[in-house]
Amino acid sequence: MTLRSTLPEWQAVANQAQRLSSVHLSTLWANDPERASRWLTHVGPLLLDLGKQRLDADALSALLDLAEAVDVKGTLASQFAGDPVNLTEGRAAWHTALRAPVKRAEVAASLQRMSEIVTQIHQGHWRGSNGYPIRDVVNIGVGGSDLGPKMVCESLSEMACGKGAALGIHFVSSIDGAQLSDLLHTLRPETTLFIISSKSFTTSDTLANARTALDWLAKAVPDAASRLRHHVIGVSASPAKMTEFGIPEQNQLLFWDWVGGRFSLWSAIGLPIALRIGMSGFNELLAGAAWMDQHALNAPLIDNLPVLLGLVGVWNATFLQLRGHAVLPYDGRLASFPAFLTQLEMESNGKSVNRQGEPVDYLTCPVLWGEVGANAQHAFYQLLHQGTQPVSADFIAPVRRYLDAGESLQRQHRLNLANCLAQSQVLAFGDACLAEPNASPHRRYAGNQPSSTLLIDELNPYALGALIALYEHKVSVMAALWDINPFDQWGVELGKQVAGETEQMLLGAQPSANVDGSTLALIKHIRQEHTACKS
Ligand code: F6P
Repeated sequence: MTLRSTLPEWQAVANQAQRLSSVHLSTLWANDPERASRWLTHVGPLLLDLGKQRLDADALSALLDLAEAVDVKGTLASQFAGDPVNLTEGRAAWHTALRAPVKRAEVAASLQRMSEIVTQIHQGHWRGSNGYPIRDVVNIGVGGSDLGPKMVCESLSEMACGKGAALGIHFVSSIDGAQLSDLLHTLRPETTLFIISSKSFTTSDTLANARTALDWLAKAVPDAASRLRHHVIGVSASPAKMTEFGIPEQNQLLFWDWVGGRFSLWSAIGLPIALRIGMSGFNELLAGAAWMDQHALNAPLIDNLPVLLGLVGVWNATFLQLRGHAVLPYDGRLASFPAFLTQLEMESNGKSVNRQGEPVDYLTCPVLWGEVGANAQHAFYQLLHQGTQPVSADFIAPVRRYLDAGESLQRQHRLNLANCLAQSQVLAFGDACLAEPNASPHRRYAGNQPSSTLLIDELNPYALGALIALYEHKVSVMAALWDINPFDQWGVELGKQVAGETEQMLLGAQPSANVDGSTLALIKHIRQEHTACKS
């Protein structure tokens, strides 16, 4: 058993990082007049520019050697073949099978059922128990059962037409019930359908919201069987748990344990997407992802978008030791893309032991965060430009937008793109962009903050499918380089267990001996306040 850091190819990359550690991006450009074309890769609907990364040709070459040495392509091939690559759970991570052009029988059957449900709802044939057609759909889920479908629905809502556009589609996830309770004030039970989305169907956040929703429905639909038959659909990998909850079999949509939660939007978890943009739009999304799968498998390393993005990610996080990574979409439709990526990358690669369980001696996943880029300019960019924290960033923007709209919207798109390009420029080169930099230290910009720019020809289902799959495979590439398992998430389990025990203590159960003094004091305070409110 050897750590990645003992490989000669790893050491060669470390040497390159050492050589470039104090070289400014301005110098890299001055030294390489060919740089502009060398770092652009345009394939399918996506163009990736790595020209503002703190890399030169020798460093990239060392990274590509490392990718060869650890067999990144072999790792992807094994994942795509459905091998049990999630070693700690003995499972495949086979989300690519959900979008493969030739579908497995169970996948085809689930898509077929999804399609029937979409048609029934769009055509007004799925009715509430009082006979009214469904007007609002509420997805209750959390994590992968919420972030993916929510992000895609928001990103593509302009493509909705007819019934998909008229339907109210809502997402609630928070365990405190705040989102649900606000929403329920605006809805009519007779015309509302809940999708309870949970791979495990044991997640307390989702089940708590689902129970509150059923209580709300009960006032208008007292008969329990009718309530569940007409107003609830379940999506899960556990039909037994859905049945136990009371969801009739014909209202159950299935997926499988070989689909990880954060990779599940391509499965029946994507039902809200299909309801919003229609089944044909959903199939386009799958097709874009399937195109990216083939690109990831077959393109040479040097032209391979997920490999390049993954290599740059590891270069920045591990070798340049940049501990933060900002996701900056310049498109309001992609507002939830940063939140989606935080789960995808941090839940996958936030690990500190390798696949054999040995502690690693290098930094793995950085902290990701993000916001619509132009809005973030007025919030946290100050720190990016003048703070003490070196970070990397991804700028993401569509090239074509509002082609058929009036001049004012076209100008807004132009302004948006100008801001995107301006910010990555200033981050990279600082006030070297200016003819005469201001002398005051308060007004100086050091630059040298690296970024990638991803331009999407146009934000449509196909391109979005390709974009999401690009990041999924970026995660796999980085995990292969770090030799970690990106498909489990044991780090979130202990908190769930302790929350269960803590709820009992809030109800008055004796604390167990290992509860710390700080938590005991907080429990005592809350219990006192609750008792005072009741009396
Ligand atoms: O707590 C983390 C997690 O297990 C995620 O991996 C998952 O996407 C989310 O909870 C929701 O899980 P489920 O779909 O089983 O409700």
